[in-house]
Amino acid sequence: MVKPSKKTAFEFKRLKQSGSLVSKLVCVTAYDYLFAKLLDPEVDMILVGDSLGMVVQGHSNTLSVTLEQMIYHTQNVARGIKESHLCVDMPFMTYQVSPEEALRNAGRLVAEGGAHSVKLEGGKTISASIQKITAAGIPVLGHIGLTPQSLHQLGGYKIQGKTETARETLIEDALAVENAGAFALVLESIPAELGQAITDKVNIPTIGIGAGPHCDGQILVIQDLLGLNSDFKPSFVKTYATLGATIQKAVKEFAFEVKSSQFPSKEHSFYVGS
Ligand code: KIV
Repeated sequence: MVKPSKKTAFEFKRLKQSGSLVSKLVCVTAYDYLFAKLLDPEVDMILVGDSLGMVVQGHSNTLSVTLEQMIYHTQNVARGIKESHLCVDMPFMTYQVSPEEALRNAGRLVAEGGAHSVKLEGGKTISASIQKITAAGIPVLGHIGLTPQSLHQLGGYKIQGKTETARETLIEDALAVENAGAFALVLESIPAELGQAITDKVNIPTIGIGAGPHCDGQILVIQDLLGLNSDFKPSFVKTYATLGATIQKAVKEFAFEVKSSQFPSKEHSFYVGS
């Protein structure tokens, strides 16, 4: 039983298929160079999520994020990465229209952005696109359950898979994504029992977010994990720091010292004389 030594899509899948995935996959989101550099040594995968529409751009959903923006942020994150796998979300309407368009756009995220893989939301309905992209040699991370790009269809950010029919549909979706060639699968906001059932059924690693403890890995949005935004805290998020409060305290102190002429002091100033 081994941990992934090489953080590649191929290796993640191989470890699950050989029953050797002992250590759960650790995944977080990042959107810029410095965060990527800080996170890289500690995690298996960094996702440039289209959650950037919310946590970076301040929108109420992810729908307006563009391919150009994802390429730009992926380029910045890629410069901070030495070890971890770099996956990027395909934004809304860049893969739903046709498998050909999906492949063209996935290719740009890899060639121009520097991503190692791409993530697509959806099950059976997008399996042809997953097939087309993987057949061209680009690894795909699937994403089912609460799929934020379908927010309006789902009627909001709600837990999925609660009824027997919804549960069956999600299991079928998971198998469709696996059969289409995905190397791993994000499960978002589903009951823990369903997270376990899907994890047991598929031969690719599952990465949970609000999907209980039985998944093969976990992912969180980095701003949530670090407690940067006190206005947003879903029950499945655990905050490991309160950086929002730390930042505000530091800037308050800076403002006080500037206004009271304590900053800059001699040591933070340049003088031409001795
Ligand atoms: O956009 C995102 O950050 C995501 C993760 C939360 C899985 O899709």
